[in-house]
Amino acid sequence: MARSSMHGHWSSRLAFILAATGSAVGLGNVWKFPYVAGENGGGAFVLVYVACVLLLGWPVMMAEVMLGRRGRHSPVNTMRILAEEERAPRAWTLLGWLGIVAGFLILSYYSVIAGWTLAYTVRAAVGVFDGITREGVEQVFGALVADPERLLAWHTIFMALTMVVVARGVEHGLERAVRFLMPALFLLLLLLVGYAMAQGDFARGVAFLFKPDFSALTGQAVLAAMGQAFFSLSLGMGAIMMYGSYLPQHASIPRTTFTVAMSDTAVALLAGLAIFPIVFGEGLAPDQGPSLIFKTLALAFGHMPAGALFGSLFFLLLVFAAWTSAISLIEPAVAWLIESRRMRRVEAAVWAGTVAWLLGIGTVLSFNAWSGYTLWGRTFFDLLDYLTSNVMLPLGGLAIALFAAWVMREASVREEIELPGRAFRLWHAVLRYVAPAGIVLIFLNAVGAF
Ligand code: PFF
Repeated sequence: MARSSMHGHWSSRLAFILAATGSAVGLGNVWKFPYVAGENGGGAFVLVYVACVLLLGWPVMMAEVMLGRRGRHSPVNTMRILAEEERAPRAWTLLGWLGIVAGFLILSYYSVIAGWTLAYTVRAAVGVFDGITREGVEQVFGALVADPERLLAWHTIFMALTMVVVARGVEHGLERAVRFLMPALFLLLLLLVGYAMAQGDFARGVAFLFKPDFSALTGQAVLAAMGQAFFSLSLGMGAIMMYGSYLPQHASIPRTTFTVAMSDTAVALLAGLAIFPIVFGEGLAPDQGPSLIFKTLALAFGHMPAGALFGSLFFLLLVFAAWTSAISLIEPAVAWLIESRRMRRVEAAVWAGTVAWLLGIGTVLSFNAWSGYTLWGRTFFDLLDYLTSNVMLPLGGLAIALFAAWVMREASVREEIELPGRAFRLWHAVLRYVAPAGIVLIFLNAVGAF
């Protein structure tokens, strides 16, 4: 089985790990994980999240990378090729399409939030946060999101940056960026945890994150934990499948994916450890939603020595982390345009980026002009976020598990996944039974079927 990808290959196993980690680590870890954990009561949510990463996320990630490497095309074409190879219905290409749609929807709002991060980089650098008060952070955040023009400008800048990298091809520059910037972000997070220990209510923050209170665990909270696991690992929409299609044939899929999943989880937990002690120390509400880290970090950087320097550096690194994730959100669509519509990469990147940019205007407005328009109590942004993380990505993951474990012949799977007999059987059984059943039960539980 020696297909090769027309889009190029990673130079090594490490390059794949870096790129996949670049995709996984992003706003999902630092921005979303703390606020979703905060909205869902902390400890019990975190426990379910980690269980989902290990029992559903990692096994499905192995499967997704495997499909990508075997098909060596964009997810739509990979699924077509593999379905043909396994004599399965062509309808499996729908999995690729679901991913493309999810990628556009996610990128559209992801870019707006990355825009906030850009805005905060500048604000931190010029000293807006120095000595800031609690009222001050509310005011700075409120003023930013109330102004659609500013949000649109930052959103536009971020989307343009994303298009530039995608237009050049993901293997250029990405490796180098991730190799240095990820460790730097990790170090700054450690610094923040140190600050939180010294200045925040560390004991309460730790208890909130790690002491499960199962009475807070509703069906919706469990669904949110599963959705967060998929979102954070970039799973279920073909991004990791796409990156798998550039993976050298000799690289071990179980080992590389484990490294990626663990680094991603470590960053999320560190972000939680940095944020919650400050939230409680300052008397902020843990369940305030998407504004959580922006207010909390503004306070932290506003009060630490050299806060302008550390603050601007931190937000800048977060922008980079978001950038390497955004690229992977759109790569499946761009690769498909190149393969099947015969576009040049630049053209494809501009088209795809423009569509995501236009959709993003809905999110821009949902924080101001449209904030009153809600459906089921959710704004446009909330709906997109809910639909993608909690529905589309787990559905994609379910389809990946079913295809890899039930449709593909075991012999084909064994060619790709080099695990000793026992470990292989364990993984295969998890993918066959545990992951599909887990995903379906969590869906049913959330809609109140039990
Ligand atoms: N994993 C990214 C994050 O945590 O920020 C977001 C993401 C990227 C989700 C790529 C899905 C994806 F395909």
